[in-house]
Amino acid sequence: TSPPLVVFGSANADIYLEIERLPEEGETISAKTGQTLAGGKGANQAACGGKLSYPTYFLGQVGEDAHGKLIIEALENGAVRLDYLNTVAAAPTGHAVVMLQSDGQNSIIIVGGANMNCWPETISEEALEVVKNAGIILLQREIPDSVNIQVAKAARSAGVPVILDAGGMDAPFPQELLNFIDIFCPNESELSRLTGSPTESFELITQAVGKCHKMGVKQVLVKLGAKGSALFVEGEEPIKQPAISAAKVIDTTGAGDTFTAAFAVALVEGKSKKECLEFAAAAASLCVQVKGAIPSMPDRKSVLDLLHSQVTDLRH
Ligand code: RIB
Repeated sequence: TSPPLVVFGSANADIYLEIERLPEEGETISAKTGQTLAGGKGANQAACGGKLSYPTYFLGQVGEDAHGKLIIEALENGAVRLDYLNTVAAAPTGHAVVMLQSDGQNSIIIVGGANMNCWPETISEEALEVVKNAGIILLQREIPDSVNIQVAKAARSAGVPVILDAGGMDAPFPQELLNFIDIFCPNESELSRLTGSPTESFELITQAVGKCHKMGVKQVLVKLGAKGSALFVEGEEPIKQPAISAAKVIDTTGAGDTFTAAFAVALVEGKSKKECLEFAAAAASLCVQVKGAIPSMPDRKSVLDLLHSQVTDLRH
């Protein structure tokens, strides 16, 4: 059997507000609809692994409440193993207010709740064993850095590769965490936050990535949204991947999570770096065409069909 994808991270109830535009200061506006859907960067990435039919565990924390049940149900429906997901009484399930504008772009505010009510001492030996036996570990930044460091350290001690998706809290990256990361996966603004450098052009991005290499991260996968992505391996030419344009952009929420998780799945399956980038681009393109984070994760057949249609397009 394949060693699993293990996602350690956050789960949120995403409270969606569909609006024409963001309110001005002091202004009250009406949303077209309001809806609560399962999300959170960790849960999204795990759901993506499950939907792509790769054996996937999600480790994290939810509260003893209706939002926790919503997330558990969504992940169970997606065949994600939840053996080491904690349900805690001390804090409510994390949530996010997702303000979705009519062009599919979003603004998100997160409330940590149970995700942040977690300390290295509360991670069980059994959970760390799952980490050490994983094929690959996926982390994000919606849980305390101290927990991410502990998980990444355990993974490194067992030779398990760790991908850190830089999405989540707007705070400096601790060097100790970077020490245990094999692939750092930021978007342009997260790359800029880590390095303190501008990232407005590919040349500037390349320079900023150079700083990441100096901080000890050998591989950097930069997500550039509609402009695609690029994988930088220290000492090698970057591999560029254009985005696969979506027929209609409905909701970009979770697209970055889909990209990172699909890349991780392809990598643990032994695909080449270029194939991993293509697979991730196709998965993200499908994700933006459906509303919601977890509800929009594509299955493997849809991703392969889209990739196949791209090749056919090129031939004609
Ligand atoms: O990356 C998208 C996610 O960010 C949403 O699902 C929301 O919960 C926030 O964590």
